[in-house]
Amino acid sequence: MNRTSIEASAPGKIILFGEHSVVYGQPAIAVPVSQVRAQCRVDGGTAGAGILLRAPDIDRRAYLSETGDDDPLASVIRRTLTALGLATPPDVTITVTSTIPIACGMGSGAAISAAIIRALGEFFQHPFDPQTVSDIAFEVEKIYHGTPSGIDNTVVAFAQPIFFVKGQPIERLTVGAPLTFIIGDTGIKSPTYKVVGDLRARRGKNPAHYDAVFMRMGALARAARAAIERGDEAAAGKLMGENHAILRELGISHPKLDALVSAAMDAGALGAKLSGAGWGGNMIALAAPENAADVRAALAAAGAVRVIETVVR
Ligand code: PMV
Repeated sequence: MNRTSIEASAPGKIILFGEHSVVYGQPAIAVPVSQVRAQCRVDGGTAGAGILLRAPDIDRRAYLSETGDDDPLASVIRRTLTALGLATPPDVTITVTSTIPIACGMGSGAAISAAIIRALGEFFQHPFDPQTVSDIAFEVEKIYHGTPSGIDNTVVAFAQPIFFVKGQPIERLTVGAPLTFIIGDTGIKSPTYKVVGDLRARRGKNPAHYDAVFMRMGALARAARAAIERGDEAAAGKLMGENHAILRELGISHPKLDALVSAAMDAGALGAKLSGAGWGGNMIALAAPENAADVRAALAAAGAVRVIETVVR
C-alpha cells in the first residue's frame, strides 16, 4: 500500500578542496550546506493518469510520458522506478522545489535528484540507502555535467563531510573543531560542463603539465584533511589560499571570484578560494566565528549577490 503523501529533501554542498583535480582521480573534500535544500513531494495522483511532474520554481508541468531521456528530472524518476521494480508508471504527482541556486557550484542538480529518489523510495515503502541514492543520482549527473567525478551526488546523498576519491568508497571526514564558512555568490552562472570540457581539451594537449598540477592539488587536499581532522583552522585556511592560486593558474577563476576572495582576506578571513566549477558561481571563505560577520559584510560590499554562512562539524 502506498502512502498518500511523502516529502524528502537533500542539502546543497560546497567543495572545500580539489575541484577539477578530482575529475582526474585526485582526492577532494566537500561538505553539505543544509541552509539550502532541494525538496520533493510525492502525492497519490489521478487513476490512469501516470506520473505528473511539477517544478513550480521553473514553471514546469509535464507528464512523464511526454518527456525524453535527456531530461534530467524525467531520467531520475525513470531510473528510480526501475530500481523500485515498477514496470508500469504509477499514478503519482511529483513536485520538486529547491532553494539551492542553480549553476553556481552548490550541487543543485544532484540534490534535486537525491530528493526525488528518496521521496519515491519512501512513498513506495522501499527507502534507499545513501549509496543507492548516490549511485542513481550519479547516472543523472552525467546528463547535467558530461563527465562528473561523482563528488556532488556523494556529498548530498550522504549529507556529511567527505574525503572523496572518484570510484572509491566514501570516507567520512572527521572535523576536529567546527569550521565557519561564508559562501559568496558572484551571481555569474557558470555551467559545470563548459568549464570541465574546456579544461579537458587543454589537458589533452599537454597531459604531463596538467597532471602535475592536479597532483599538487591532491597533495593540498590530503594536507587539508589532516588539518581539518586536528582542528587546525589556520592551516586549513592557508591551504585554501594555495588551492585558489592553483585554480587561478589553471584559468578556472574569474575577476569577480578573485575580488571576493581578496575582500574576504582583507576582512580577516583565515583563507578563501573559489568553490566548484569556477568562471563564476561561488567562492568560500573560512572565518573565525568572531570574525564571520565582518567577512559576510565585506563580501556583500564587494558585490556578492548572496552570502550564506554555514558551520561544518
Ligand atoms: O558542481 P560544481 O560546480 O561544484 O562542480 C563540480 C566540481 C568539478 O570538480 C569541477 C566537477 C566534478 O565533476 O567533480
